[in-house]
Amino acid sequence: MIPVNEPRIGEQELAYVTECLRTGWISSAGRFIEEFEARWAAYCGMPYGIAVSNGTVALEAAVACLDLKPGDEVILPTFTIISCAQAVVYGGGVPVLVDAAPRTWCMDVSQVAAKITSRTRAIMPVHIYGHPVDMVPLWALAEQHGLTIIEDAAEAHGATYRGQRCGGLGDLSCFSFYANKIITTGEGGMILTKDAKLAERARSLRNLCFRPERRFYHTELGHNFRLTNLQAAVGLAQLERIDDLLAHKRWMGGRYAELLAGTPGLTLPVEEPWATNVYWMYGLVLDEATGMDAVVFARRLKALGVETRPFFLGMHEQPALWEEGYFRGEVYPVAERIARQGLYLPSGLTLTNEQAVQVAAAVKACLA
Ligand SMILES: Cc1ncc(COP(=O)(O)O)c(C=O)c1O
Repeated sequence: MIPVNEPRIGEQELAYVTECLRTGWISSAGRFIEEFEARWAAYCGMPYGIAVSNGTVALEAAVACLDLKPGDEVILPTFTIISCAQAVVYGGGVPVLVDAAPRTWCMDVSQVAAKITSRTRAIMPVHIYGHPVDMVPLWALAEQHGLTIIEDAAEAHGATYRGQRCGGLGDLSCFSFYANKIITTGEGGMILTKDAKLAERARSLRNLCFRPERRFYHTELGHNFRLTNLQAAVGLAQLERIDDLLAHKRWMGGRYAELLAGTPGLTLPVEEPWATNVYWMYGLVLDEATGMDAVVFARRLKALGVETRPFFLGMHEQPALWEEGYFRGEVYPVAERIARQGLYLPSGLTLTNEQAVQVAAAVKACLA
């Protein structure tokens, strides 16, 4: 079976983790935390980095930094992971959805203006499967209405938008370093910001809101969202060779495109002229005319030794969010269609040319 994903862990990761173990810096203080934060922030062009335990809590802490009042709204794509919507709900706000754009599968930015009300506080663009969101229209709306942009760049390490790195495009940005991400810490995440006050607040929320002037004295409730030095050690080693990791993803995107070009019944990922796509995952959307949905297609591919994963199911189709009083009866046709017809192919950092050829052959065989 060709796995859908595999991380690439090397000698440097081992050396850095060994250093943590040998020196006893195994918890959430130590040189790797600070270096990983500083270097990831610099890589993305942001001044402050706050490492946290995963991408989900990065979003929670970023939303918490906004101090939403009941009824305050945050606009986000329906086509994303539930971490985005639940961060808004846990943060005391109201999530408001827009559909996916048919080409990039990212939020359809042309739908955002119509969703802005007097209660809107923020927009949360999510760079889907490695392709950046079209930010210019969002920057204009944020400026016009005084909104905060919280970028979810979990899937877009190293991707660029008009020459700027994703994760450096908003007021706050959030990353995941889960094992399937381009750089990984096993579990892990980070918040970046250009605002010193927001950085201080995110740091405080991450660590139980200890008051600086007196430890064990608290004026607000925080969380334990800390990353360990051990995890940061892995992250730093990964970051040191991110160019190689990105080159592999870009190679994979190009290779699949070449191998699958012109196959009837398939829509392949795009790369808009203003973007570099890092092909975090190589997605496919199947035409309904093939008579197959993604479930049947995945089953057939599995029988041919190819592991896949389905696309996201929209936030408006989640019973957990209906229970909270959101989105019941809302319709987003693009997200609904790609959720049913979309899956992604093996996209790991260890994928070989032979495997890519085998995957493409299996895709074509299933469609024949
Ligand atoms: C777009 C996006 N945001 C947030 C997350 C959450 O990250 P984590 O799994 O580290 O909690 C993910 C995770 O896969 C993601 O794809």
